[in-house]
Amino acid sequence: MTDHLRGPAAPDARAEDGTSPADIETPFEISVSDRIKQLPPYLFARINQLTYQKRRAGNDVIDMSMGNPSDPPSQRVIDKLAEAANDPRNHGYAPALGIMSLRREVASRYLTKWGVRLDPESEVIGTLGSKEGYGHLCLALVGPGDAVVVPAPSYPAHVYGVALASARAIPIDTTDPSRFLSDVARTCETDRPKIVVVNFPHNPTATVVEADFYRDVVKLAKRYGFMLVSDLAYADVTFDGYVAPSLLSIEGARKYAVEFTTMSKGFNMAGWRVGFCAGNREIVRALGTIKTYYDYGMFRPIQIAAIMAMRHGEADVAAQSKVYQRRRDVLCDGLARIGWQVTVPKASMFVWARMPEPFASRMTSMDFATKLLEEADVAVSPGAGFGESGEGHVRLALIENENRLRQAVRQIGRALGDELKTATARAG
Ligand SMILES: Cc1ncc(COP(=O)(O)O)c(C=O)c1O
Repeated sequence: MTDHLRGPAAPDARAEDGTSPADIETPFEISVSDRIKQLPPYLFARINQLTYQKRRAGNDVIDMSMGNPSDPPSQRVIDKLAEAANDPRNHGYAPALGIMSLRREVASRYLTKWGVRLDPESEVIGTLGSKEGYGHLCLALVGPGDAVVVPAPSYPAHVYGVALASARAIPIDTTDPSRFLSDVARTCETDRPKIVVVNFPHNPTATVVEADFYRDVVKLAKRYGFMLVSDLAYADVTFDGYVAPSLLSIEGARKYAVEFTTMSKGFNMAGWRVGFCAGNREIVRALGTIKTYYDYGMFRPIQIAAIMAMRHGEADVAAQSKVYQRRRDVLCDGLARIGWQVTVPKASMFVWARMPEPFASRMTSMDFATKLLEEADVAVSPGAGFGESGEGHVRLALIENENRLRQAVRQIGRALGDELKTATARAG
């Protein structure tokens, strides 16, 4: 036996039954950190599990549950990735915060798209998707005792990022942007949030704002002294001529704010993990500091291909928005035809649908989503998965093609059937 296994007791100290101290076993179980224990439950697990079971049983589930783009990026971008991966010089660690030519490309896109002039060295960094960037930004900026206003209903990472940083999330309803502003102001009178997170176009509700909203939010930041984090993940998925404004385009915003953008949605590069944080240089530096402790940045060929995508891909982005817009029309018109009226979104990849009667008054969004999955083979996300204020709604992601969406509408129509029609006729 090696010495370290004997412990401090005398080497030959034996109990009466002959066991030595080295044989003693201390009761042991894996105990995870409080950080993990206090995370809110993951409510989408039930739908994911059920979808998996149905598929294993041979059912063709039409999956509208996750905002996971199903189309590939342009061939040009894939070819560039392959070319760069074939260069042996591109396989070492890349700079953790992104190669400078990528950061310059982001700055150049901000200038073209929003008229915002950024210094790529101090005001832009690359992240492994905006989700990673946001999570680490929370670690960089807040801790125990701090509070962060997050949009409600909530994209789960907005809440988890705050919780994992041991800070407190204050969810504020974001579906009416002007009420959101007055609610933030009221909250600031009693509870000083260190950060206010805004996310427009919003996941899950698809709520959008105009630049005036950001002007007012910057005024509030000035008055109450909080930092601003804008999650602009859906900047590139907009419909009917709507252009999603950037918070950074507001004069004075950069004193308080950073903004996340991503290549996941408009560029169809979700699996590539390419996102950006831009804006206030001290905040950007703090995120950079945390990141250098946790990761080594993106694979260099991905960064090179991302530059190519941004430099030559605006037409592809516009075409992809058109694809989502057509899917939106197929889905919203189809649902209206079967008697389920939903709000038509101006941006994002989602339709946020209030549950129709008579189902809304007699079941939860989880039960309704389960019903659609069990009886219509259509997977949607229950609104409650986005927090309490999401109850009464389901989120349908526009990630299936138009034919599959038509099929989904038919199947939903059959499953909800006469009850839906009777309720609509009564309401009419
Ligand atoms: C609002 C919002 N922010 C961020 C993300 C994450 O994007 P990324 O792929 O850049 O991490 C998503 C993805 O669904 C999202 O909906």
